[in-house]
Amino acid sequence: MSDKANDNSDSANAEDTKQVDRAGSPGASTFGFETILGKLVVDNGLVTPDELSECSSLLQDADGNATGHTLADILVNHQFLTRRQLDRLQTDFDTRKSTQRIQGYRIIRKLGAGAMATVFLAQQESLDRPVAIKVLPKKFSENEDFLERFYKEGRAAAKLNDANIVQAYDVGKSGEYHYFVMEYVDGDTVYEQITEKKKLSQEEALPIIRQVALALKHAHRVGFIHRDIKPKNIMIANNGDVKLADLGLARALDDREAAEAEAGRAYGTPYYISPEQIRGKKDITPAADIYGLGATLYHMVTGNVPFPGKNPSDVMHRHLKQELVPPDHINPTLSAGFSQIIEMMMAKEVSQRYQNASDLIEDLDAVARGDSPQFAQPTLDFAKLAEAAEASPASEPVKSTMHGGNSSGMESLYLPLLITSAIINVILLIIVVVTSL
Ligand SMILES: Nc1ncnc2c1ncn2[C@@H]1O[C@H](COP(=O)(O)OP(=O)(O)OP(=O)(O)O)[C@@H](O)[C@H]1O
Ligand SMILES: [Mg+2]
Repeated sequence: MSDKANDNSDSANAEDTKQVDRAGSPGASTFGFETILGKLVVDNGLVTPDELSECSSLLQDADGNATGHTLADILVNHQFLTRRQLDRLQTDFDTRKSTQRIQGYRIIRKLGAGAMATVFLAQQESLDRPVAIKVLPKKFSENEDFLERFYKEGRAAAKLNDANIVQAYDVGKSGEYHYFVMEYVDGDTVYEQITEKKKLSQEEALPIIRQVALALKHAHRVGFIHRDIKPKNIMIANNGDVKLADLGLARALDDREAAEAEAGRAYGTPYYISPEQIRGKKDITPAADIYGLGATLYHMVTGNVPFPGKNPSDVMHRHLKQELVPPDHINPTLSAGFSQIIEMMMAKEVSQRYQNASDLIEDLDAVARGDSPQFAQPTLDFAKLAEAAEASPASEPVKSTMHGGNSSGMESLYLPLLITSAIINVILLIIVVVTSL
C-alpha cells in the first residue's frame, strides 16, 4: 500500500538510476547509490530537505576540502538513518538498477517487497502486455541447489494453467539477479483487505476461499504443493477474480528455517505454517496447504491470526501445542458449520484434516446453501462437559433427559395410580364373587 503511495517517486528514482548508470564508472553501484542517496532519503520521508543540506554540508570542511566522510556515514552517525534502513535502501537501489537491464521488459514501478524478493510492474515489449517480475536478492545466486529447483519449478509452473492461479510466464537471469515473470494482477491482496476492513464477513470470505481451494485442487492434482499459503499470496483482481500467487517458487531453505529467517519482519512471522512443516517433515502433503488456507480464513473472519506470539518460535510452538479458539467464539456471526470447516482445516493432525481440496469445496458449498458440512463435524468440548459434571452436586442422581422426560417425576405419578388400580380390581373381584353366590 505504501508502495503504491510512492509510485511517482519510484519511477522518478528509476529514471535517475538510468542517468547514474549512463555516467557509469567502475564501482558504479556504490557511486550511483551515494549520488542518489540524498534524493532517496528525502523521497522516503526519512530526512527533511533541511536536514539533508545540513548533512551534505559536512561532506566538506570550511576550506571546501572533502572530509572523506560519505553521506551515508554522516546520516547514520547523526542518527537520521539506521544501518538497517541504509542497507534496505541500498538493496532496493541495486535491485532496481539490475532490473533496468532485463531484456525485453520495461520496468514501470515497484509493486511491493516480501521477505525474500522485490516485485516490479513491467511491460513485456514483445507481447505489449503488463507483467509482474519478482527479482530475487543476489544471495540466491550462490545457492546452486536452490537455483536448480527455482528454474525447474519455474518451468513446470509455467505449464500450469488455471483461472485462479497467477500464471507463470518466464524465469531468467539478469546480471547477478534471478527473476520470475508472471501475470500481473491489478488489485489487492487479501492481506490488504484484512488491514482495510479489520475482518471479512462469512459471505465475503467464503467465495474467496472457495476460489483458492479450486486453485489448490488443480495444483495438487498435477503435483504442486504451494507451502506458503497466506493472505499476501492471495490476490483479488479489481474484477473480483481471486488468484493464488507464488505457486512453484522454490524455497531456498526448509520451511522452519525460512519461517525463522523472517523473524523481525512485521508481517513475516509464521502465522500460517502447518505443524508438519514446523516439524520439518519431509513428506509434506496437500494437507499442509489446507492448514495454511484455514489459518488465512481464520484471520479473515476473526480479524486475528490463529496463534499470535512474541516471536516466530513462540508462534510455531502454539501451532504445535495450543488449542485453537473456535472462530465463532470470536465472531459470533459465523455459522456453526462454517466455524467447524475452519477448525477441520486447521486440525493439528494431518489425518484429522481435509485430505483434499475437493472435500473442502463440498463442505463450503453445503454451508453456502445453508446445509451442514458433510466432512467437518461438531467437536465435543470434553473440557466443558467435565466441568459441568463436576459442578453438579455428587448426591444428586444424574437425570436422564431421554425422551425429554424427567424420570423421577414420572415415578411419583405411577405409584398412586398402580395402588388405586389394584384396589379397584380387588373391589370388582369381591362384587363378582358376591353376586355369583
Ligand atoms: N503477480 C502479481 N501482480 C501484482 N502484484 C503482485 C504480484 N505478485 C506480488 N505482488 C505484490 O508484491 C508484493 C510482494 O510480493 P512477494 O511475493 O515478494 O512477497 P510476499 O508474498 O508479501 O511475501 P513472501 O516474501 O513471503 O513471498 C505482494 O504483497 C503484492 O502486493
Ligand atoms: Mg508472495
